[in-house]
Amino acid sequence: MSIRLRLVLSYLAMLVVPFVLIILTVMVIFHFVAKNDNPIKKFIEQDESTYNDIKLMSLREPESLLKSSVATELDKRLSKFNKQLIIRIDDELVYTSAQLSSSNMLTELPAFGSSDDTDDIFRGKHAIIRHEDFILPDKREGSVFVVMDNNPFLDVGEQNYIWFAVVVLVILALTNGVLTFMVSRSIIRPLKALQKATEEIKDGNLDYEVKPRSKDEIGKLSVAFEEMRLRLKETVELQIQYEESRKELISNISHDLKTPVTAIKGYVEGIMDGVTNSPDKLDRYVKTIFTKAMDMDRMIDELFLISKLDLGKMPFHFEQVDMGAYLQDCAQELYFDMEKRGIKLKLDALPEEEILIKADREKLKRVLINIIENAMKYMDKTDGKISLSIHAKDSKAVIRVRDNGQGIAEDALPHIFDRFYRADPSRNSTTGGSGLGLSIAKQIVEEHGGQVWAESELSKGTTIYVELPVWMKR
Ligand SMILES: Nc1ncnc2c1ncn2[C@@H]1O[C@H](COP(=O)(O)OP(=O)(O)OP(=O)(O)O)[C@@H](O)[C@H]1O
Ligand SMILES: [Mg+2]
Repeated sequence: MSIRLRLVLSYLAMLVVPFVLIILTVMVIFHFVAKNDNPIKKFIEQDESTYNDIKLMSLREPESLLKSSVATELDKRLSKFNKQLIIRIDDELVYTSAQLSSSNMLTELPAFGSSDDTDDIFRGKHAIIRHEDFILPDKREGSVFVVMDNNPFLDVGEQNYIWFAVVVLVILALTNGVLTFMVSRSIIRPLKALQKATEEIKDGNLDYEVKPRSKDEIGKLSVAFEEMRLRLKETVELQIQYEESRKELISNISHDLKTPVTAIKGYVEGIMDGVTNSPDKLDRYVKTIFTKAMDMDRMIDELFLISKLDLGKMPFHFEQVDMGAYLQDCAQELYFDMEKRGIKLKLDALPEEEILIKADREKLKRVLINIIENAMKYMDKTDGKISLSIHAKDSKAVIRVRDNGQGIAEDALPHIFDRFYRADPSRNSTTGGSGLGLSIAKQIVEEHGGQVWAESELSKGTTIYVELPVWMKR
């Protein structure tokens, strides 16, 4: 239930509940008080002396009742008990109390000579009536009536109005209190829970879960809060992960740069110490120093590229590329280099349909070179073969680079695209590398909206797949 609806309902309840409670209370009070109170008994007791006077007068000197001063005096005495006086001679009312509470009473006046059960008391719908009949000396028939309103509520109400006021106030206060408590509890409790959660998060406890207790506005707020917490947690975790990988990267870089530097230092020291006694040896030393320096240069280039890709500072110039023609160009470029190494490069038959993709030519070439370089570097067969092929499948262009080299062990396969990962960590000069080639390739392919993966069998060969979204297929 929404808070708005809850407030509206509570306001309605604030009106209805006290009303119902007050009515119930009044009914209960009258059930026990008014019913137990015998009005007739009260009626008789209240004004015994006045009534005795009236009785005496009607017996002894009924004509005195016709004097208005006497009637007024009696009426005045009766009015203290909320009673009124009526005098009737024959059918004519000769005296009617000015304060007669209801004219309906007159219709209930008993006829002359009619006598009721107790003390001539008659209880009508509107009035309780006690009467004395008398006969005037001139034989006219007279009756004197003492009447009182038969509404017990008036009587009870009059006596207990303070109690009524107290009861009404108590009911109002209770209803108000209970409703306020209920409504505020349903609002304040979840707000307190949210406040606690905020404090926990402020103190860095991102595992503090907020469970929505209701479906109202605060419930929705809790859900949003929980989403915010999860996102925050994700961000923080990602940041920690970045920090970790940054540390790892720095330690790897230092290690990988240290190795060639140490080697160069060793060779230079050798030269300085005069170990290179023959020009042949000197030549070898200098060549090694050159190779090591080249390795370092290459690695620094790779690191530079990685950091630019990471920071998103590497601009990509996407254009429409016909993959068939593109692969042909690449193969031609690499052909002679391969030939020299005794490896055969073969480009499989191109599909008849042109496959167009959206790519950055230079960067995509980098991907292919990194993959093909590996195929050459990790070739252990004398009849090394590398085959290139392309095909389109489900609006994806798939480039396949297959070699018959040493292959990759099953446990190493899932890691070859990780930075600095090398299946064979021993860094000798033939297969030397920093383990960055494939991670760079992967990053570039992902920037193209594609993916790269590998299949391999140890000592049989490796196949690398590069899948890129097709721009347009004609
Ligand atoms: N065609 C392949 N045949 C066998 N092993 C491979 C092949 N391609 C990759 N690998 C394995 O995957 C690892 C990671 O390759 P990656 O290209 O990232 O690094 P690298 O070649 O060692 O160094 P870099 O390319 O930075 O000079 C390699 O060290 C190698 O063990
Ligand atoms: Mg490589």
